[in-house]
Amino acid sequence: MANQIIVNAQKSKNKIDKNIYGHFAEHLGRCIYDGFYVGEDSKIPNVNGLRLDIIEALRKIRIPVLRWPGGCFADEYHWKDGIGPKESRPSMINTHWGGVVEDNSFGTHEFFDLCEKLGCEPYICGNVGSGTVQEMSEWVEYMTFDGKSPMTDLRKKNGREEPWRLKYFGVGNENWNCGGRMRAEYYSDVVNRYNLYARDYGDNTLYRIAAGPRNENYHWTEILMEYSSMYFDAIALHYYTRVGDKIRTFLGRDGNERYLRGEGSRGSATDFQEDAWFGIMKATLRTDSIVSKHSAIMDKYDPEKRVALIVDEWGTWFDCEPGTNPGFLYQQNTLRDAVSAASSLNIFNNHSDRVRMTNIAQTINVLQAVILTEGDKMVLTPTYHVYDMYKVHQDADLLESAMITDGYTYGGETLNKVNATVSKDAEGVIHMTLVNIDPNEGADVTCHIADFGAFHVDEGLVLTADAMNTMNTFEHPDTLKPAAFSSYEVNGETVTIHMPSKSVVSLAVKSK
Ligand code: AHR
Repeated sequence: MANQIIVNAQKSKNKIDKNIYGHFAEHLGRCIYDGFYVGEDSKIPNVNGLRLDIIEALRKIRIPVLRWPGGCFADEYHWKDGIGPKESRPSMINTHWGGVVEDNSFGTHEFFDLCEKLGCEPYICGNVGSGTVQEMSEWVEYMTFDGKSPMTDLRKKNGREEPWRLKYFGVGNENWNCGGRMRAEYYSDVVNRYNLYARDYGDNTLYRIAAGPRNENYHWTEILMEYSSMYFDAIALHYYTRVGDKIRTFLGRDGNERYLRGEGSRGSATDFQEDAWFGIMKATLRTDSIVSKHSAIMDKYDPEKRVALIVDEWGTWFDCEPGTNPGFLYQQNTLRDAVSAASSLNIFNNHSDRVRMTNIAQTINVLQAVILTEGDKMVLTPTYHVYDMYKVHQDADLLESAMITDGYTYGGETLNKVNATVSKDAEGVIHMTLVNIDPNEGADVTCHIADFGAFHVDEGLVLTADAMNTMNTFEHPDTLKPAAFSSYEVNGETVTIHMPSKSVVSLAVKSK
């Protein structure tokens, strides 16, 4: 069989929301401190304590939105501890992540400053698990109210006269486990209540995001869609790409999953063979069925697709790097992560009628990070380069396409070998991103572009290497990065692309 894509250049399905390329910053390990924020007194070049090299790198990939402060941390975070003079901010124990002391020197003002410098939208996740309705309601008032009130007086006292613009607001995180161990039925009432008091002030309209399910927990989506979806704008699914889940799941008679800590290994991020490559590819492609099934449930209650499915935590999850704090979830990043991320992004793009935001976990130094830091050094991971290659899809039109692919077989199981996105930007340029997940064999892909006339390939890039675990290190930061790609032939309305094994390819196609 051959790999084929048939594209209709004039038929757009929908827009690929730029927020699909969003990120996630949690007070976890070295994501905030030692990552984004080094403090004003640091010798590392910074502005207001924010690392300049990181700002520049994230601006380059056009980071559209940043979620903060967690994750599990969000449901333990008390925002009032993170405002005012830094020397008088109380400390807390970050019980979820390593039991370290959090000094709250990075809080609301610092987060908005960061988003402003990055040129991205802030997405704030409120505390439902251990916070009160009043606390959440006052946070929204503090951030967005323009009149005279106790919270605006406090904000002004802390040096911020004008309210900020805040659109994306999450009402809790993983409230089925670290966010309060709630049943879907209970959370659906709780989210309605918290939602109600997180007010819209003036013309600042919140886009309310309910904590969604984990993986295949379809009961959660069903209940929330039935009882609460009229009050929120999006539901936030979490799906991590991993083999060997340490969480043990029990299905109750009421249809709710319960979660307990388990044992076991998630495998090494860097030291692996083809079985672990295959396992991660299989887990990556599972995203497609998970998103499809949650979307189908949402279609029952919301055929107009008003409510978005957002995936505000996703990415690979391995055992942490040997010698690092297990509570910090620091992992290296290889070509395998790049191929996995590129495939996941293709899946999200192809579901962008319902999926309107995703946030990879977590931007810096945690899980599938796009940037790693060590002192003043910074490494752009292979996953970063995928975001760079894929940024052309942001707000582009997803074109109608159909695909036939060969299989990649390992240990008697077969996966789809090639996946792709085809979009058209505002200038009429067609962008194709293709992934060949097979670590052993190349893939020839024939792409027929109908109704586009004669065309040429304006730019081709490829991300690949000989070894599956090729990575960038602090000593050799540029081992794996996109290279010029010209292994294709254009013939009339068809371009035939010769993809290397384990590769990500992008092509910009312009009409002549
Ligand atoms: O990303 C790490 C953790 O994974 C997040 O804090 C939590 O939401 C999820 O379980």
